[in-house]
Amino acid sequence: MTPVPTSLEQELTTLQAAAIAAIAAADTLDALEKLRVDYLGKKGQVSKVLGAMGKLPPEDRPRIGSVVNTVKTALQTELDRRKDALQTAQINAQLQAETLDVTLPGVYRPQGRVHPINSIIDQITDIFVGLGYTVASGPEVESDYYNFEALNFLPDHPARDMQDTLYLPNGELMRTHTSNIQIHHMQDHDPPMRVLASGRCYRRDTVDATHAAVFHQIEFFAIDKGITFTDLRGTIRAFIDELFGEIPIRFRPSFFPFTEPSAEVDVEWQGRWLEVLGCGMIDPNVMQAMGYDPEVYTGFAAGLGVERLAMVQHEIDDIRRLYSSDLRFLRQF
Ligand code: DAH
Repeated sequence: MTPVPTSLEQELTTLQAAAIAAIAAADTLDALEKLRVDYLGKKGQVSKVLGAMGKLPPEDRPRIGSVVNTVKTALQTELDRRKDALQTAQINAQLQAETLDVTLPGVYRPQGRVHPINSIIDQITDIFVGLGYTVASGPEVESDYYNFEALNFLPDHPARDMQDTLYLPNGELMRTHTSNIQIHHMQDHDPPMRVLASGRCYRRDTVDATHAAVFHQIEFFAIDKGITFTDLRGTIRAFIDELFGEIPIRFRPSFFPFTEPSAEVDVEWQGRWLEVLGCGMIDPNVMQAMGYDPEVYTGFAAGLGVERLAMVQHEIDDIRRLYSSDLRFLRQF
């Protein structure tokens, strides 16, 4: 004989049905957790039924107790199932939202290179630093004094014609060579010195395969007791050997107001001689103007044409290629 269900049993059945419906309808993990507390928590609905058991006749208690356990297990199972389902849905939604399409084309970042002019300046600087030279610099906008006068160019001397340049309204000019740095450095320092400096220069030159109106020079000079032209020759030979290997060079007598004697150096390029630097022994007039006693100190100086050395280094046939910003050309270096 099946025992007559007590009202408590009926209550439990109703509660279980309601709970299972509510759990199935819960659409967030938070809502689900609320339901768990509401039904199975210490003060939850199932506990309340348990509390009411005390009023039952003792013979009914084990049966109701076992029903309560069944309900508890059933609810916990439903809660776990629903929790799993909601968690899976959450992860899927997240995956959907954060998809990464690995087949999309990447962002192309072109790789830069050192321009052949900067590169050869760096190489030459390294060679001279290795010979014990210090690196200096000076202004591109210069006064007549530093660019010409202190270098022994007299106001109406024809040597100025070779170095015409742009003049500013205030009488300053765009420097025609890096030799201005000699004067700045000699003013600010006492001998002995071995100095290297590089920079941009400006000249009223007709542009062709070997000339540009804006170009680069590297200046180097050494002042000490007993320096001779032989030291100058040896330094140039050593530097050219280091840069290019032992290629043929020739010294030609020349003239610069700030050196005496003066020379130019050519190297072989495309089957002919190409002038790459001017040099000489610093003129006693320059020494004297800087307060150095020319009877005690002597020195040599030189100015290198950076573009021309780069042309020799890379067998470039036209100086204008160095300024054309043509990536097909520049990517070769
Ligand atoms: N400044 C000269 C030029 O631009 C090159 C030069 C010649 C530099 C002799 C020097 C030097 O320092 O001693 O043509």
